[in-house]
Amino acid sequence: MTAVGDIGGPTPDRRAVISVLRRLRSPEGQRAPLPLWAELRAMGDVVPAPWGGYFVTGFEACSQVLRGRNWLVPDIAWQERGPDPERWESLATREMSHVLSRLNAPAHTCQRRALGNLFDRRILERMQPEVEEHVRHLLDDLDTTLRVHGEADFVTIVGEQLPVRTVGHWLGIPTEDHAHILDITHRQVHAQELLPTGSELAVSAEATRLLRTYFTDLVRQRRARPGNDVVSGWIRHWDAELPGDREAADRLLYYLTMFLTIASLETSATLLSVAVWLLLEDPARWDWLRRHPEHIDAAVDEALRYDPPIHLNTRIAADDTVLAGVPIARDSMVHVLYGAANHDPRRNENPHAFDILRPGAHLTFGGGAHYCLGAALARLEARTLLTQMLDRFPGLKSAAAPTYAPRMVFRRLTSLKVTT
Ligand code: HEM
Repeated sequence: MTAVGDIGGPTPDRRAVISVLRRLRSPEGQRAPLPLWAELRAMGDVVPAPWGGYFVTGFEACSQVLRGRNWLVPDIAWQERGPDPERWESLATREMSHVLSRLNAPAHTCQRRALGNLFDRRILERMQPEVEEHVRHLLDDLDTTLRVHGEADFVTIVGEQLPVRTVGHWLGIPTEDHAHILDITHRQVHAQELLPTGSELAVSAEATRLLRTYFTDLVRQRRARPGNDVVSGWIRHWDAELPGDREAADRLLYYLTMFLTIASLETSATLLSVAVWLLLEDPARWDWLRRHPEHIDAAVDEALRYDPPIHLNTRIAADDTVLAGVPIARDSMVHVLYGAANHDPRRNENPHAFDILRPGAHLTFGGGAHYCLGAALARLEARTLLTQMLDRFPGLKSAAAPTYAPRMVFRRLTSLKVTT
């Protein structure tokens, strides 16, 4: 997830790629990205990007990049040895260069080992009753709005609220701060887009300052009143790992709590809204799943495959290499396109069909050393939500097609109107 600056100097090939990118970022492109991913995939498994890197479009090639040891994330050392280090100078971009997903071994291995399996079966069993409770309350809110107005926006009432309540409760973020956290998360994300404009970076910079203040304070408060919660556990761990360097421990704890929050909110919210939209788009699907709740897990995974919340992720080549027959020089950037990969017909037959029962495969949570740490929690939220919704709202319908933020990397539904 990397900002790469402006596109310049199109050649005929580049022009075709730039045209797809422009359309992807438009509201129409976000409403219907599948033909655009197909257009890119038709150009090859590995397509030169206008700034000298590559887009990777095929499932196998993407999987190879995500899992291969000879592909690294673009870290600070790579930024500094590149020809254009100023490109990474903006505050929001620089700040994101320190988070877990932008570290390579050994720092990455050390942090992953310390975190362990964040959401193993035992932890999820403990969290399940509280997630069920959050869902019950949010569906009460949805019900009330539907009764009063006849129509409700699923995104704002439920989709964005469930992840912030779940992760907020887990990290100990007070309920009265949830709206603020959601707001700054939405504003920070511009810096992680592919081609942020100067004004988008300025919005992200301000949001970054607010995130830094908030999470530095969260860690400070937890130090003052430690308990048995997850953040107190991390404080104890890193104080022991970095004895005598409280500043380094606090810095690490700030990046960790801030990143876990922003990594979990928009992504999970998009999954919840996408899953509900894909099921309501054809009322027969909603009805079928209501009668076959044993397939809810499969429906969640098909939604993850069909419309991944993150559309693009970046790696760099550790050595000169060849990917899908294309020579790639050391330090070149490659952009893995999850959506294009998941719709590769060589891997998922008839890929544009939303088919709950397909034996599908997807790369939506990434792969290899950086595989998403929150996948099990996101699935728990989606499963709990659909289970209760199908039961409580058997006749739910979409009132209008969803609307989307004009982004290319982090997909976000801004509204999904439903009615009964
Ligand atoms: C549907 C929801 C989610 C999606 C689609 C998603 C997707 C991803 C993807 C694509 C990556 C990068 C993987 C790679 O580079 O190979 C990632 C990394 C990560 N995700 Fe998620 N994520 C979701 C929810 C969550 C949640 C709920 C949390 C935490 C509570 C979380 C925490 C993380 C962390 C910490 C990383 C960095 C892992 C590393 O670099 O070692 N994610 N996620």
